[in-house]
Amino acid sequence: MRTNTRTSNSDTTVNSGLPKPHQCPWFMQYMLVSPLRRLLEPAHRLVGPHVKPGMTVLDPGCGFGYISLPLARMVGPQGLVLSADVSSWALARLEHRARKAGLIDRIEARVCNPRDLGFDDYRGAVDLVTVIHALHEFEDLPGFLEQVRRLLKSTGRLLVVELKGHVTQDQFAAEMHCCRLAGFTELDPPQVGPKRQAALLAPPMS
Ligand SMILES: C[S@@+](CC[C@H](N)C(=O)[O-])C[C@H]1O[C@@H](n2cnc3c(N)ncnc32)[C@H](O)[C@@H]1O
Repeated sequence: MRTNTRTSNSDTTVNSGLPKPHQCPWFMQYMLVSPLRRLLEPAHRLVGPHVKPGMTVLDPGCGFGYISLPLARMVGPQGLVLSADVSSWALARLEHRARKAGLIDRIEARVCNPRDLGFDDYRGAVDLVTVIHALHEFEDLPGFLEQVRRLLKSTGRLLVVELKGHVTQDQFAAEMHCCRLAGFTELDPPQVGPKRQAALLAPPMS
Protein backbone atom coordinates (compact mmCIF):
# COMPACT_ATOMS: atom_id res chain seq x y z
CA MET A 1 0.00 0.00 0.00
CA ARG A 2 1.37 3.42 -0.89
CA THR A 3 0.55 6.83 0.57
CA ASN A 4 0.37 9.58 -2.01
CA THR A 5 0.72 13.20 -0.99
CA ARG A 6 0.77 15.08 -4.30
CA THR A 7 -1.92 17.70 -4.91
CA SER A 8 -3.66 18.99 -8.02
CA ASN A 9 -4.58 22.59 -8.87
CA SER A 10 -8.06 22.02 -10.24
CA ASP A 11 -10.76 24.67 -10.06
CA THR A 12 -13.37 23.92 -7.39
CA THR A 13 -15.70 26.84 -8.21
CA VAL A 14 -18.11 24.68 -10.25
CA ASN A 15 -19.00 22.66 -7.16
CA SER A 16 -22.19 24.68 -6.43
CA GLY A 17 -25.36 22.58 -6.10
CA LEU A 18 -23.32 19.50 -5.30
CA PRO A 19 -23.82 17.59 -2.06
CA LYS A 20 -21.72 19.01 0.74
CA PRO A 21 -18.83 16.55 1.01
CA HIS A 22 -18.77 14.58 4.23
CA GLN A 23 -16.86 11.60 5.53
CA CYS A 24 -18.61 8.25 5.91
CA PRO A 25 -18.63 7.51 9.70
CA TRP A 26 -16.36 4.62 10.71
CA PHE A 27 -19.20 2.30 11.80
CA MET A 28 -20.86 2.72 8.38
CA GLN A 29 -17.83 1.02 6.79
CA TYR A 30 -18.77 -2.18 8.65
CA MET A 31 -22.43 -1.93 7.55
CA LEU A 32 -21.26 -1.53 3.96
CA VAL A 33 -19.80 -5.06 3.96
CA SER A 34 -22.68 -6.68 5.87
CA PRO A 35 -24.41 -9.86 4.60
CA LEU A 36 -27.65 -7.81 4.43
CA ARG A 37 -26.13 -5.56 1.80
CA ARG A 38 -25.17 -8.60 -0.26
CA LEU A 39 -28.88 -9.45 -0.34
CA LEU A 40 -30.19 -5.94 -0.99
CA GLU A 41 -27.48 -4.70 -3.29
CA PRO A 42 -25.46 -7.53 -4.81
CA ALA A 43 -22.25 -6.24 -6.37
CA HIS A 44 -22.88 -8.12 -9.63
CA ARG A 45 -26.11 -6.13 -10.12
CA LEU A 46 -24.31 -2.79 -9.64
CA VAL A 47 -21.19 -3.38 -11.69
CA GLY A 48 -21.50 -6.82 -13.36
CA PRO A 49 -22.89 -5.71 -16.74
CA HIS A 50 -19.89 -3.41 -17.29
CA VAL A 51 -17.01 -5.72 -16.36
CA LYS A 52 -15.24 -8.29 -18.53
CA PRO A 53 -12.32 -10.62 -17.76
CA GLY A 54 -8.93 -8.99 -18.29
CA MET A 55 -10.12 -5.45 -17.61
CA THR A 56 -8.35 -2.88 -15.46
CA VAL A 57 -10.93 -1.29 -13.16
CA LEU A 58 -10.40 1.68 -10.82
CA ASP A 59 -12.57 1.77 -7.67
CA PRO A 60 -12.10 5.17 -5.98
CA GLY A 61 -13.65 5.51 -2.51
CA CYS A 62 -13.46 1.72 -2.22
CA GLY A 63 -13.89 1.54 1.58
CA PHE A 64 -13.54 -2.04 2.86
CA GLY A 65 -13.82 -3.34 -0.72
CA TYR A 66 -17.47 -4.36 -1.03
CA ILE A 67 -17.15 -3.64 -4.76
CA SER A 68 -13.38 -4.11 -5.23
CA LEU A 69 -13.39 -7.78 -4.17
CA PRO A 70 -16.21 -8.89 -6.53
CA LEU A 71 -14.56 -6.77 -9.24
CA ALA A 72 -11.34 -8.76 -8.70
CA ARG A 73 -13.31 -11.98 -9.24
CA MET A 74 -14.97 -10.58 -12.37
CA VAL A 75 -11.76 -9.35 -14.04
CA GLY A 76 -10.10 -12.72 -13.37
CA PRO A 77 -6.40 -13.56 -13.17
CA GLN A 78 -5.51 -11.45 -16.24
CA GLY A 79 -7.29 -8.36 -14.90
CA LEU A 80 -6.49 -5.78 -12.24
CA VAL A 81 -8.46 -3.73 -9.73
CA LEU A 82 -7.02 -0.40 -8.59
CA SER A 83 -8.55 0.48 -5.22
CA ALA A 84 -8.13 4.00 -3.79
CA ASP A 85 -9.39 5.52 -0.57
CA VAL A 86 -8.41 8.44 1.65
CA SER A 87 -8.71 6.14 4.66
CA SER A 88 -5.62 4.00 5.30
CA TRP A 89 -7.65 2.12 7.91
CA ALA A 90 -10.30 1.16 5.33
CA LEU A 91 -7.63 0.04 2.87
CA ALA A 92 -5.94 -2.11 5.50
CA ARG A 93 -9.30 -3.89 6.00
CA LEU A 94 -9.72 -4.24 2.23
CA GLU A 95 -6.28 -5.82 1.92
CA HIS A 96 -7.01 -8.20 4.80
CA ARG A 97 -10.29 -9.27 3.18
CA ALA A 98 -8.63 -9.63 -0.25
CA ARG A 99 -5.84 -11.77 1.19
CA LYS A 100 -8.36 -14.04 2.91
CA ALA A 101 -10.31 -14.39 -0.33
CA GLY A 102 -7.17 -15.20 -2.35
CA LEU A 103 -7.66 -12.07 -4.48
CA ILE A 104 -4.81 -9.89 -3.26
CA ASP A 105 -2.73 -10.51 -6.43
CA ARG A 106 -5.42 -8.85 -8.54
CA ILE A 107 -5.80 -5.76 -6.36
CA GLU A 108 -3.50 -2.76 -6.13
CA ALA A 109 -4.65 -0.72 -3.12
CA ARG A 110 -3.34 2.79 -2.56
CA VAL A 111 -4.09 5.42 0.03
CA CYS A 112 -4.92 8.61 -1.86
CA ASN A 113 -5.49 12.19 -0.85
CA PRO A 114 -8.69 14.10 -1.66
CA ARG A 115 -7.09 15.78 -4.69
CA ASP A 116 -4.96 12.99 -6.06
CA LEU A 117 -5.94 9.36 -6.60
CA GLY A 118 -2.26 8.51 -6.97
CA PHE A 119 -2.65 6.23 -10.00
CA ASP A 120 -1.00 8.43 -12.63
CA ASP A 121 1.18 5.48 -13.64
CA TYR A 122 -2.00 3.94 -15.14
CA ARG A 123 -2.67 6.88 -17.45
CA GLY A 124 -4.80 5.81 -20.42
CA ALA A 125 -4.89 2.19 -19.17
CA VAL A 126 -8.18 1.97 -17.26
CA ASP A 127 -11.28 0.33 -18.80
CA LEU A 128 -13.80 1.21 -16.12
CA VAL A 129 -14.05 3.52 -13.09
CA THR A 130 -16.68 2.51 -10.51
CA VAL A 131 -17.74 5.18 -8.02
CA ILE A 132 -20.26 3.48 -5.77
CA HIS A 133 -21.94 5.54 -3.03
CA ALA A 134 -18.86 7.74 -2.90
CA LEU A 135 -19.03 10.63 -5.40
CA HIS A 136 -20.97 12.82 -2.95
CA GLU A 137 -18.02 12.54 -0.54
CA PHE A 138 -15.44 13.85 -3.00
CA GLU A 139 -14.63 17.46 -2.23
CA ASP A 140 -13.07 18.35 -5.59
CA LEU A 141 -15.34 16.82 -8.22
CA PRO A 142 -13.88 18.71 -11.23
CA GLY A 143 -10.38 17.68 -10.16
CA PHE A 144 -11.51 14.08 -9.70
CA LEU A 145 -13.13 14.00 -13.15
CA GLU A 146 -9.99 15.40 -14.75
CA GLN A 147 -8.00 12.54 -13.22
CA VAL A 148 -10.59 10.00 -14.42
CA ARG A 149 -10.35 11.47 -17.92
CA ARG A 150 -6.56 11.01 -17.91
CA LEU A 151 -6.73 7.47 -16.56
CA LEU A 152 -9.49 6.09 -18.79
CA LYS A 153 -8.86 4.55 -22.18
CA SER A 154 -10.79 6.37 -24.93
CA THR A 155 -13.22 3.43 -24.90
CA GLY A 156 -13.41 3.44 -21.09
CA ARG A 157 -16.46 4.16 -18.95
CA LEU A 158 -17.25 5.90 -15.68
CA LEU A 159 -20.00 4.28 -13.59
CA VAL A 160 -21.58 6.35 -10.81
CA VAL A 161 -24.13 4.92 -8.34
CA GLU A 162 -25.68 6.92 -5.50
CA LEU A 163 -28.38 6.02 -2.98
CA LYS A 164 -31.66 7.90 -3.49
CA GLY A 165 -32.55 10.04 -0.48
CA HIS A 166 -29.01 10.03 0.88
CA VAL A 167 -28.18 11.95 -2.28
CA THR A 168 -31.23 13.94 -3.46
CA GLN A 169 -32.32 14.02 -7.10
CA ASP A 170 -31.15 17.65 -7.32
CA GLN A 171 -27.76 16.76 -5.90
CA PHE A 172 -27.39 13.86 -8.33
CA ALA A 173 -28.40 16.18 -11.18
CA ALA A 174 -25.68 18.61 -10.00
CA GLU A 175 -23.13 15.78 -10.05
CA MET A 176 -24.16 14.89 -13.61
CA HIS A 177 -23.99 18.57 -14.61
CA CYS A 178 -20.42 18.62 -13.32
CA CYS A 179 -19.65 15.47 -15.36
CA ARG A 180 -21.06 17.10 -18.51
CA LEU A 181 -19.03 20.27 -17.85
CA ALA A 182 -15.94 18.04 -17.68
CA GLY A 183 -16.86 16.68 -21.13
CA PHE A 184 -18.33 13.31 -20.11
CA THR A 185 -21.38 12.00 -22.01
CA GLU A 186 -24.19 10.11 -20.32
CA LEU A 187 -25.05 6.79 -21.98
CA ASP A 188 -28.16 4.67 -21.35
CA PRO A 189 -28.71 4.67 -17.57
CA PRO A 190 -27.74 1.38 -15.90
CA GLN A 191 -30.50 -0.63 -14.19
CA VAL A 192 -29.50 -0.70 -10.52
CA GLY A 193 -32.87 -0.95 -8.74
CA PRO A 194 -35.46 1.60 -7.62
CA LYS A 195 -33.64 2.89 -4.53
CA ARG A 196 -30.57 3.96 -6.44
CA GLN A 197 -29.68 6.49 -9.11
CA ALA A 198 -26.92 5.67 -11.54
CA ALA A 199 -25.14 6.89 -14.64
CA LEU A 200 -22.76 5.35 -17.14
CA LEU A 201 -20.57 7.96 -18.78
CA ALA A 202 -18.16 8.03 -21.70
CA PRO A 203 -15.04 10.19 -21.35
CA PRO A 204 -14.47 13.28 -23.50
CA MET A 205 -12.77 12.62 -26.82
CA SER A 206 -9.17 13.74 -26.64
C1 LIG B 1 -19.84 5.47 1.65
S1 LIG B 1 -18.20 4.84 1.47
C2 LIG B 1 -18.44 3.75 0.06
C3 LIG B 1 -17.46 2.63 0.04
C4 LIG B 1 -17.59 1.64 -1.14
N1 LIG B 1 -17.56 2.30 -2.43
C5 LIG B 1 -18.82 0.80 -1.00
O1 LIG B 1 -19.73 0.92 -1.85
O2 LIG B 1 -18.88 0.02 -0.05
C6 LIG B 1 -17.31 6.19 0.73
C7 LIG B 1 -15.79 6.02 0.76
O3 LIG B 1 -15.20 7.11 0.05
C8 LIG B 1 -13.98 7.46 0.69
N2 LIG B 1 -13.61 8.82 0.25
C9 LIG B 1 -14.12 10.01 0.65
N3 LIG B 1 -13.55 11.02 -0.02
C10 LIG B 1 -12.66 10.46 -0.88
C11 LIG B 1 -11.76 10.97 -1.87
N4 LIG B 1 -11.68 12.28 -2.12
N5 LIG B 1 -10.99 10.12 -2.55
C12 LIG B 1 -11.08 8.77 -2.32
N6 LIG B 1 -11.90 8.22 -1.39
C13 LIG B 1 -12.68 9.05 -0.69
C14 LIG B 1 -14.31 7.29 2.18
O4 LIG B 1 -13.15 7.13 2.97
C15 LIG B 1 -15.19 6.04 2.16
O5 LIG B 1 -14.41 4.88 2.34
